[in-house]
Amino acid sequence: MQILETIVDARAVLATARSERQRIALVPTMGNLHAGHLSLVQKARQLCDRVIVSIYVNPLQFGAGEDFANYPRTLDADCQQLRQAGVDWVFSPDDQGLYPAGKDQSAFIEVPGLSSILEGRSRPGHFRGVATVVNKLFNIVQPEMAIFGEKDFQQLLVIRRMVVDLNLAVEVVGMPTLREADGLAMSSRNQYLSASERKQASTLYQVLNATREQLLAGVTDYSRLTSEAIETLHACGFSPDYFEIRRCDDLQLPRTPGDNKVILAAARLGRTRLIDNLPV
Ligand code: PAF
Repeated sequence: MQILETIVDARAVLATARSERQRIALVPTMGNLHAGHLSLVQKARQLCDRVIVSIYVNPLQFGAGEDFANYPRTLDADCQQLRQAGVDWVFSPDDQGLYPAGKDQSAFIEVPGLSSILEGRSRPGHFRGVATVVNKLFNIVQPEMAIFGEKDFQQLLVIRRMVVDLNLAVEVVGMPTLREADGLAMSSRNQYLSASERKQASTLYQVLNATREQLLAGVTDYSRLTSEAIETLHACGFSPDYFEIRRCDDLQLPRTPGDNKVILAAARLGRTRLIDNLPV
């Protein structure tokens, strides 16, 4: 496995692979890899000839007061896992490489509408940062496919919309969320939880599941379901940010009971902000 630190090196290696007609899959990450990331790598290996994993903690997608400075950076351990997982290349650029004019002076990608609701409402500018860096990675790598986790359900929709709107030649593949034994969605941020918070954290998944069951049983009073869920989360020590039942394809409110739905939630537990979702 080769570690590529510059865009010039990455472009050179990838151009050779493309000239040999190898199909390239990209798995974009911010590192601190867990089994969820490795499932994306495994899928990438099934779908394409060569796999490149990017590791870059993207400053543009963090707001003021968020955890950019403390975000766990574990490049050596990540590379060890990726080598074992059969990855061909790791791309780990630096800020100067990706934002030569500085992150606040660079051109950016804005996906309107979808970027300003739910996560985007709580984290203004977050999806601009995500769309911009993913667009850069697509331009540098020019992969056939890019694999993302459904844990960041809204992020996946923002990226799909960007790909359609900007006519990008990348197939975006979404993979189901991997969970711990108690149901907590795997996330690099789970390590911020104290031991007692970690025990409590899976309640978020239990509440999502209970709501899903009610929906499957035919309950259509969405506002009652979401208020009850928010009350339960408060009672269990969470500070819920949102708990919403939305349409899967555009995250708007369901219009008919037959709409495909997803339940999305974000809640703080101590200093950790957890997000999760459950398609219905
Ligand atoms: O999901 C993530 O880890 C990040 O948002 C991504 C897609 C790698 C962009 O920085």
